[in-house]
Amino acid sequence: MDKQFWVDRYNKGDAPWDLGQAVPSLVSYLETHATQLLHQGRRAVVPGVGRGYEAALLAEYGFSVVGVDCAAPALVDAMRIHATFAHKIKWIEEDFFAFAQHQTMAFDLFVEHTFFCAISPSLRSDYMDAAATLLCSGGYFIGVFFAHGAPGGPPWTTSYDNLMGYLKKSAFEVEWLDDIANSISDRKGQELLLVARKR
Ligand SMILES: C[S@@+](CC[C@H](N)C(=O)[O-])C[C@H]1O[C@@H](n2cnc3c(N)ncnc32)[C@H](O)[C@@H]1O
Repeated sequence: MDKQFWVDRYNKGDAPWDLGQAVPSLVSYLETHATQLLHQGRRAVVPGVGRGYEAALLAEYGFSVVGVDCAAPALVDAMRIHATFAHKIKWIEEDFFAFAQHQTMAFDLFVEHTFFCAISPSLRSDYMDAAATLLCSGGYFIGVFFAHGAPGGPPWTTSYDNLMGYLKKSAFEVEWLDDIANSISDRKGQELLLVARKR
């Protein structure tokens, strides 16, 4: 899917992935683990940030966040919705893979929600490499992944085995990968939470 596909979806108001809030599993994870994450450092990046609810949640906890998305309309909305965090979030309109190539700052935290499932499955190895490139050693990779099991996409499905296959070949050490108990009703049993660290 190219940039125009996503721009058109936002312009048409056709963004069913948008929960209008941060994904509950990340909210609950931060409630119990924010101190541990902040101990690693405060620089966070959110790829495919969309309207920015996860970025705002991280900003609330004191992270300094960079949100990257190729679709300008999503970022325009994000800036308006989360205006109170203007000093804590930098919104960047760019292709994630291009961003990862030239970005010189190393992040402490990489947070993903329904971005992996939005890109072509042929780019999944590149995605893992880009995530590792962006993180410092010991940096955390926290992801909420869509494992709906249906053919086609986006969203393209993943699974425990599929994710593990990529992670085993990557620079990440997996600390946790499991089903999510508090998914929203129409994603129940279809989401996985990953916590990994860059070696
Ligand atoms: C399914 S949406 C998820 C948005 C947000 N994470 C959320 O959960 O609401 C996927 C997002 O990734 C963005 N996107 C898709 N491909 C991208 C790319 N190659 N680089 C940057 N952003 C991309 C889209 O514009 C869209 O905002």
